Amino acid sequence: MKILVIHGPNLNMLGKREKDIYGEVSLETINKKLKAMARKEGAEVETMQSNYEGKVVETIQKAAARYDVLIINPAAFTHTSVAIRDAILAADMPAIEVHLSNIYKREEFRHKSFIAPAAVGQISGFGENSYYLAMRAALELAKKKK
Ligand code: DQA
Repeated sequence: MKILVIHGPNLNMLGKREKDIYGEVSLETINKKLKAMARKEGAEVETMQSNYEGKVVETIQKAAARYDVLIINPAAFTHTSVAIRDAILAADMPAIEVHLSNIYKREEFRHKSFIAPAAVGQISGFGENSYYLAMRAALELAKKKK
């Protein structure tokens, strides 16, 4: 079982950026915990972060045949990127959309996700736990595929 985790723009700043919204935890810590969770279930996890939309699109394209499930926090691209949505649809790989904050409780421009219709589901508003909940769901999806 192989799971790919993609973190979008500014998530490399976790622990330093808008701590009242995103918390104190670093991306490195989240990635470590995700890997430990997956290892317990015999799954492998690859993580990547990019501030560039095209890099995210390319990573999804290359991942298509190689991973069972994609977990993605598209960050600001959630609200703008038709290209990432199309890449997910083309990849034919179940995707889980993650947000640390509850995007529906925030500014109106964050209420629209271009990614949601291309995802199996969305987890939003549980801080770092959003990622761990997504990993639980991803492991279940990956097991069903096997
Ligand atoms: C985010 C929510 C987005 O609206 C924002 O642009 C982010 C992070 C979240 O995890 O809560 O960068 O995806």
